[in-house]
Amino acid sequence: MDPKDVDAVILVGGKGTRLRPLTVSKPKPMLPTAGLPFLTHLLSRIAAAGIEHVVLGTSFQAEVFSDTFGDGSELGLEIDYVYEPEPLGTGGGIANVAPKLRHDTAVVFNGDVLSGADLGQLLAFHDERDAELTLHLVRVADPRAFGSVPTDADGRVTAFLEKTQDPPTDQINAGCYVFQRELIEAIPRGRALSVEREIFPRLLADGVRVCGYVDASYWRDMGTPEDFVRGSADLVRGIAPSPALHGHRGESLVHDGASVAPGALLYGGTVVGRGAEIGPGVRLDGAVIFDGAKVDAGSVIERSIIGYGAQIGPRALIRDGVIGDGADIGARCELLRGARVWPGVVLPDCGIRYSSDV
Ligand code: GTP
Repeated sequence: MDPKDVDAVILVGGKGTRLRPLTVSKPKPMLPTAGLPFLTHLLSRIAAAGIEHVVLGTSFQAEVFSDTFGDGSELGLEIDYVYEPEPLGTGGGIANVAPKLRHDTAVVFNGDVLSGADLGQLLAFHDERDAELTLHLVRVADPRAFGSVPTDADGRVTAFLEKTQDPPTDQINAGCYVFQRELIEAIPRGRALSVEREIFPRLLADGVRVCGYVDASYWRDMGTPEDFVRGSADLVRGIAPSPALHGHRGESLVHDGASVAPGALLYGGTVVGRGAEIGPGVRLDGAVIFDGAKVDAGSVIERSIIGYGAQIGPRALIRDGVIGDGADIGARCELLRGARVWPGVVLPDCGIRYSSDV
């Protein structure tokens, strides 16, 4: 199947609640990841596979997407946008793009998945099996948090089980689907529907030919702070592939206009955004520092995200945390294990600590 004869559809209309407060100011697929909006990595992968036409299914903060990507020509793509004034869920979002489709086959992506799957092979598999729908599946160590998708010896999907405590297989829904267009056109339009909970089970019950393409490529859903930090670090270190990074591979990535004082240590896939300032003796291990943030002398930041223009005072410790845009964290504060500081919040010096000495 020639990728030129396939539409790509990307669902980007979610509110990204699990990544709050970062998603207060930006939709999840636009958060900077290894220095680029996350969606740029996916769009580059789509372009590299030879697909030319992309439809973005938007809702929450829709204008941010068109303002950034325009007609798509900078990425060698033609991008169309559709808008849901009220979010229609993943199924309603897919139905909503139907009028913009140009071809008989569409590959639909969740806009928050970092994946190295070979799209050419996925499309060839769909074609060879004469499938009406092909789901990309990956194997994970703990499938309980995902949709579990068993297949038979011919690769046909036999069930679709959303998050269950007792999954029958370690194959999970990877958030990328190849649809024949008639199936998309048959989804009722204009009402909220979940593709995972409603449409897939119904298609299976109706006897539609649904196949599962299983591979061992890199895969990560970037929906939580923990996964976002890991995915970003994997991009920086070259563990997760992205054509947009042109082969970058290293322990850290420091962007133009950032300053890093001598003696600061950056590793673990750390990213320092444009205009950010990192003071002397700072240790950044797998940290994601957004543009314009400032980290003062002697602070330690591990596996955490520091929002746009946030300030971290001297000798602070932030481990597995998220600091919102423009927040001001006082000297020697300690923020650990899932702490989330909302944008603009000011914490005084020593304002939060886990030990009794100040
Ligand atoms: P959480 O609130 O943290 O669960 O994030 P989310 O709202 O992004 O939901 P989820 O991670 O389940 O969404 C998977 C993908 O579908 C993401 O790329 C979302 O942007 C997208 N998505 C979710 N809901 C909608 C919707 O109602 N409409 C559209 N067009 N896309 C959606």
